Parts: sequence; structure tokens; C-alpha cells
Amino acid sequence: MCGIVGYIGNREAYPIIVKGLKRLEYRGYDSAGITLFGKAGKTFKTKGKVADLERIAGNNNNAGNTLGLGHTRWATHGIPSDHNAHPHLSNTGRISIVHNGIIENYASLKKILTENGYSFKSDTDTEVLVNLIEYIKLSQDVKIGRAVQIALNQVIGAYAIAVFDLDRPEEIVVAKLGSPLAIGLGTDEYFIASDASPFIEYTNRTIYLDDNEMAVISRDKGFKMYSITSDKALTPKIQEIQLSLEKIEKAGYDHFMLKEIHEQPTAITDTFRGRLLIDKHTINISGIEQHLDVFKNAERITIVACGTSWHAGLVAEYLFEDAARIPVEVEYASEFRYRNPVINKGDIVIAISQSGETADTLAAIKLAKEKGAFVFGICNVVGSSIAREADSGAYTHAGPEIGVASTKAFTTQLTLITMMGLRLGQLRGTISSQDFERVGKQLTKLPKLIERVLKYDSLIQEIAREYKDATNFLYLGRGYNFPAALEGALKLKEISYIHAEGYPAAEMKHGPIALIDENMPVVVIATNKGHYEKIVSNVQEIKSRNAKIIAIVSKGDESVKLLSDHVIEIPEITESLVPILASVPLQLLSYHIAIMRGCNVDQPRNLAKSVTVE
Ligand code: AGP
Repeated sequence: MCGIVGYIGNREAYPIIVKGLKRLEYRGYDSAGITLFGKAGKTFKTKGKVADLERIAGNNNNAGNTLGLGHTRWATHGIPSDHNAHPHLSNTGRISIVHNGIIENYASLKKILTENGYSFKSDTDTEVLVNLIEYIKLSQDVKIGRAVQIALNQVIGAYAIAVFDLDRPEEIVVAKLGSPLAIGLGTDEYFIASDASPFIEYTNRTIYLDDNEMAVISRDKGFKMYSITSDKALTPKIQEIQLSLEKIEKAGYDHFMLKEIHEQPTAITDTFRGRLLIDKHTINISGIEQHLDVFKNAERITIVACGTSWHAGLVAEYLFEDAARIPVEVEYASEFRYRNPVINKGDIVIAISQSGETADTLAAIKLAKEKGAFVFGICNVVGSSIAREADSGAYTHAGPEIGVASTKAFTTQLTLITMMGLRLGQLRGTISSQDFERVGKQLTKLPKLIERVLKYDSLIQEIAREYKDATNFLYLGRGYNFPAALEGALKLKEISYIHAEGYPAAEMKHGPIALIDENMPVVVIATNKGHYEKIVSNVQEIKSRNAKIIAIVSKGDESVKLLSDHVIEIPEITESLVPILASVPLQLLSYHIAIMRGCNVDQPRNLAKSVTVE
């Protein structure tokens, strides 16, 4: 979490950094700060958002500062406050740092520094790091680049840092381990950021640092890259950025979340385009095609993920077991990595992650690789750490997702997972060609069907108005609709702060039914064909306890409709694809409730888009 931005060149640094920080606010937004250097260099920092930083910094657009470092924070060590905001300065005030990550051994380092006369103004691990760098620079009489390198070799944890030293006013030192860092290469100017979005209007050439890499970026001498652990000079891999400005802006929508909900038809098309080749009776996902033996012969699949991506993993479990007859286990990445999981050579471990930077998922795949598994990454962000760490993988191609609540990332993950399930079934001879074709064809129809579901917006707004003041919600579903219920509940709680739980519908009578009374809205996803009468009985059980029922049903449904207070009809589709279609009204319901409660849907409290801490 946290976003960092830096600039060194000939332009005014302040507006570039502030605009860049706003684009990175999805990474954290509880405090912000900036250090400027040039004619009127100064450090400003405050609790709050980048807009609050602008208020206290005043107009710096023509101040003659051509170097700067900026930060938008998601608190790890120390509460959100002015003094815990970055940049942090060393005790002499000559070195400043912005940092994304966690220094785990900061307490022992702080003790040593305190014994050597250092004092601290904040509660952060980052202030310890900047003082360690200063202590090394002064005590060993080395330049800032070398001091950073020596310090990082004493540090345990994760970081993307940018460091500026008044004694070397023509350079910025950057380094990465575990947290992302990109350098944008302009003509005689350099940009530094947690992802490429802050600099896409200035350059399309970038370098994504790998773990254990650092660079000294100098205004006139260009930049030099080194390994942090050895002194080896490295040759940078320059890549062309594929991102466009319009894709990261709101395009007339009030919020990124709403824009991203409406982008789903296009995003899903982008996920299957060129891969789903129904005419040729095949699916071409190159990350699978290049490893056919692995997928044919694997005896089991373990899926690791967090949050919404974990829900996508649950759908994959149902689908892969059904279509490809392979045992699948779905694990929270954070639990998997701290157990001693049984992973054998030949096992496939699939990591699902929108950002491709989630620390727990990244650590889980590193562990899986150590144990000899073949790791396949399903990521949205191209070039992200998980995408690079995996043995193979596939991108969802959803485009940038800026709203903290995952929407199009989820439905595109499910699209990709469906194609994977079909292809695995085909490879392993466990799916009939009729079923392959039937589900494949229905997948191609999804974008149009989603367009239809999006038209229920005003109906969903009415429902939202009625329940916006509820304090609890239950979401129920059976089979494929159980993960959809979990995802619906997560969407509501994270953006509206209403407590919501997802349950398998039949599990309700083992406890949660005690919660049901006339004040409990229950959302039921009741599209099941296979066990329709079972879900009808579950709805009846809820009805007889006076709950308010909001049902998502298939067109043509008769029984559930009669029992429900509100009905949202979605087009008829094969069961495994319902979670994609049913997610859309659930996303809209959460969105409207949150807006009516006055919540910040794009930047909900305490959250960040990319969770790069454990
Ligand atoms: C979803 O709305 C979330 N905000 C969150 O649960 C997210 O899915 C989770 O943090 C995993 O992120 P990833 O997909 O980028 O790994």
C-alpha cells in the first residue's frame, strides 16, 4: 500500500507530483506529503487526502522546484497523522525519503540509532530507515547511493523507496523489494512512481524495477542500476507502457466504481477476445498451451488468493472439479503461507490477483514454487510482481481498476476461469464437446446480457433507498451462487460499512437463521436449476421469519418471485456463468446504498486497492 511519486528534470515538480499522487490514491489515502527541491524547496505533509495536501502547500506551480518526492499513505506503523505522514526527514534534515512497504526489524534498528543519539518525531518504521541511511552515510563517509545500499542490506521487510539527499541535489536514489516501483524515462527527465499512471502523459518508456534492484537517477548523468545485494551493475529492461490516459479517468461517471461496473461488457469481451475460438472448437490461452503436459497430468490444483479474488477462486473450484474432474482446494493466501501446506511436485498452484501485488498472495506463490509446484498467475495488472513471479499465467485484460471495490476485475477473473475450466476439461477429456460448445457460446453472449442487467439501475436504486439504513444484511446462495453471495456481502460491507454476511443458503439453519427478523434484509441468489426446489424451501424458511427478501432470479421464475419483497430478474444462463451476471445487480445495490449513506465509494475508509503488506 501507499503510493510514491518522484520527479527530477527541468519542469516544475509540484504539479506533476500532485497529479501523480491523485492517480495513486487508490493505494492509500490517509495522509499525504511532498518534498520539493529547487529555488523554494520545502516539505509539506498532512493527515488526509492529496486535496488536503494541496490546501496546506498553497500554490507551488511556479516556484522553480525541479525535483520532488511525494507520498500518499495507508498507515501501517503509527496512526494517520501529520507527523506520521511521509516524506520523512533524517535528524539533520538533509535526507528525505518516501516509502511503500514495511520495515519489520525497525524496532531493533531504532534502538541502535537511539543509542547513537538519534531521535524520532514519528511512530513510523520509515523514519527509522531514513535515519539508518543517514547514520551509515555519516559514520562510514559514503555517498547517499552507497549508504542506501548498505542500509537496505540490514533491513528485513518490504520496500519501494525514493531517497533525496541535499548533499547530492542532482540525484534521487530508488530501490525495491516486494513493493512495486516504476521509472519513467523522458528526455532529460525522470519520473518515479508505484505504477506508471502518474507519468503516462509524459513518456511511454518505463523500467519496472525487480526485487533487490536499485538505481541512482541523476538529472544530467542519466541513471545507473545496481543489485542491492551484490555490487553488480545491471542493464535496465526498458518497456513500452500500454496504458492510456482516458482509461484511468472517470469518463463522465460520478465515480470510478460506477464507471468500472459499466465497463464490464467491454472488459469481458477483452478477456475472451482472441482466446475463445468456438468456431475452431478450442480455447487458446497461451499460458496453458505452452504447458499442456503440466495441465494434462496435474493431480490437483490449489488456488491462493485474497478478498474478491478468493471468491473468484471458489467459483474456479466448482467449475474445474465439474468440467475437468480435478481436485481443487482454495486457500486464503495469508493462511496458506503460514501453514506447512502439502504441495507436491507436479501440483498446480493458481494465484488470482487483480493488482498482482498482494503481499500474501505473492508470498504464497513463492512458497509454492519452493515446494516444487507449477505456479500459474491470473492477474489484471500487466507486468505486476505476481505475473512476473509465476511460471506461467494469463492476464484478465480488464483495464485499470481504480475503485477500491473490485467489480470488473472479479467478472473478468470469472470469465478467464470459465475458459480455463473448459480448456482443462477438453484437454483431460472430461467435458463433452456439446457442453464445451454450449458454455463457450453462452460466454460470448455475456457482454450483451450484462448490458441488459445494467438497465435495472433505477429498480436497484429504489431497493437501495428502502434498505439504506439497515444495519445488517444476509446474502445467500447455493452452488455457484454461494461465492456470488460472499462477493455481494463483501461489496456491501466494504463501501457502505453495513455489516453483511454471505452464507450457503442451506447452512443458514445451522446458526445464522437466529439473526433473522423483520429488520434483516436477505439477498438470495435463487437462479439454480439443479436444486431449484431446495432454494425455494430456503427462501420459505426466511419468509416465515418475516425477513425482507431481495431475490435475484432467472427470467421465467415463478416460485421464488411469489415469496420475495423485491425481484431482480436476470437473463437465463448456464449455472456456472450466473455469478458473473448476478454480480452486476449486487455491485449496483452496494454502490447506491453507499452513495445514499454519503460514503466515499472509491476510497472507503481503512482500505487500499493494493495490499502490499501482510
Ligand atoms: C475487493 O473489493 C477488495 N477491495 C479486496 O478484497 C481485494 O479483492 C483483495 O485485496 C485482493 O486484491 P488482489 O486481487 O489485487 O490480489
